[in-house]
Amino acid sequence: MSDRVHKLIAQSGIMSRRQAEVMIAEGKVKLNGQTITELGTKATFDDVIEVAGQVIEKKEEPVTYLFYKPEGVVTTTHDPEGRSKVVDYIDDARRLYPIGRLDYDTSGLLLLTNEGELANLLTQPKNQIPKVYEVTFTGVLRRKTSSIFEKGMILEKRKLQPVEVNFVKVDAKAEKTSCQLVLREGKNHQIKKMLAEFGHEVIRLKRLRIGPLTLDGLQKGTYRVLKPFEKKQLINAVQTKKSPHPKS
Ligand code: URA
Repeated sequence: MSDRVHKLIAQSGIMSRRQAEVMIAEGKVKLNGQTITELGTKATFDDVIEVAGQVIEKKEEPVTYLFYKPEGVVTTTHDPEGRSKVVDYIDDARRLYPIGRLDYDTSGLLLLTNEGELANLLTQPKNQIPKVYEVTFTGVLRRKTSSIFEKGMILEKRKLQPVEVNFVKVDAKAEKTSCQLVLREGKNHQIKKMLAEFGHEVIRLKRLRIGPLTLDGLQKGTYRVLKPFEKKQLINAVQTKKSPHPKS
């Protein structure tokens, strides 16, 4: 639907309607390459509108989704191998991207958003939010191993944040163990690598929780919008780690 150009400019978020009117009156606005000076000129976002040389775009409404990622889906927005992608599941034309990642064969809770600030807040290493995983792996978890996890193990020459180990269930006959792990950081393939250091191979990995958010009410492959109060709770759950070398 067509609308007045100054309204479209305001909708792009770069300035107010009043400021847009002034820009038009001053001859600083072009519609499809032609300078316009009439305030009543109408257009749509399919037209090319330039304000002082800058082409405007429709501002997208911010949205964040909670998605129950199935196994066999990539978290990247582009996959050269043509595998199924998490963004394919969400029926929304906005440019969404995942916050952090889960491996191809990992299932569970994943956030997708077009809100850059939220994504930044949740992915900066200094900001920590507990993430709970349920993992089943080969072999029997030794007490010594879980105590190393809980103290913060060295992996690839770097000390990891402590990882809590809860609800350990050992199936000695089948030689496998299930437990929940609480991570406060997300190194690439972290759980698989931590367990591999002690000779365990991950059989199944699922993320149950990100801070206060859970999979409740979601089936594999389905999603829902993050509610404003949940966004506040999520932001409140972020703990900012102090720098070990504060500036004096
Ligand atoms: N750790 C892993 O190894 N893989 C994941 O997908 C998440 C955490």
